[in-house]
Amino acid sequence: MPSGIYLLGSASGGRRNLMTHSLAMQVSVQPKLVAVAVRRDALTHTLVDEGGAFSLCFLRREDRALARAFTKPAQEGPGPGMLGGAEVRTGTTGAPLLCRAAAWLECEVRQRVAGGDHTLFIGEVVDCAAPDEDAPVLRMEDTRLNYGG
Ligand SMILES: Cc1cc2nc3c(=O)[nH]c(=O)nc-3n(C[C@H](O)[C@H](O)[C@H](O)COP(=O)(O)O)c2cc1C
Repeated sequence: MPSGIYLLGSASGGRRNLMTHSLAMQVSVQPKLVAVAVRRDALTHTLVDEGGAFSLCFLRREDRALARAFTKPAQEGPGPGMLGGAEVRTGTTGAPLLCRAAAWLECEVRQRVAGGDHTLFIGEVVDCAAPDEDAPVLRMEDTRLNYGG
């Protein structure tokens, strides 16, 4: 199945993470709901579940390397305000946002649905922006990556 590729941000109890992510889709128009499937053994699962929120950052097509960089729990740094080597800032939900993102949204979790080895977190969009609307965004087919399809 064709899919996008994003960085999913999460935070809880002083720990935060960005994770390469592809299983995301909008599931309601009013209110705006977005569902993300997160594997149960991922750090991101714990942080989204406990923090009750997530961010979804849309990558620029030239930022393919970032999709490779966030497939393991991200370490703080190396510089101040950085996470896993990328500049981030904290969104209104507390989840990290990639400063270089072409666009991003933030959601508060409204529902959790268990499904196989992933949990579907359904979140309501509470904030979003597209700082560079004209930027071509990264899609799975722009990379040599895949995710269990
Ligand atoms: C192209 C690609 C897409 C991915 N999509 C998802 C996804 O939709 N959901 C998910 O839970 N993990 C996905 N992963 C796996 C995560 O990036 C990560 O390896 C793993 O879940 C551990 O995340 P953690 O840092 O939260 O522990 C994907 C990995 C790749 C390379």
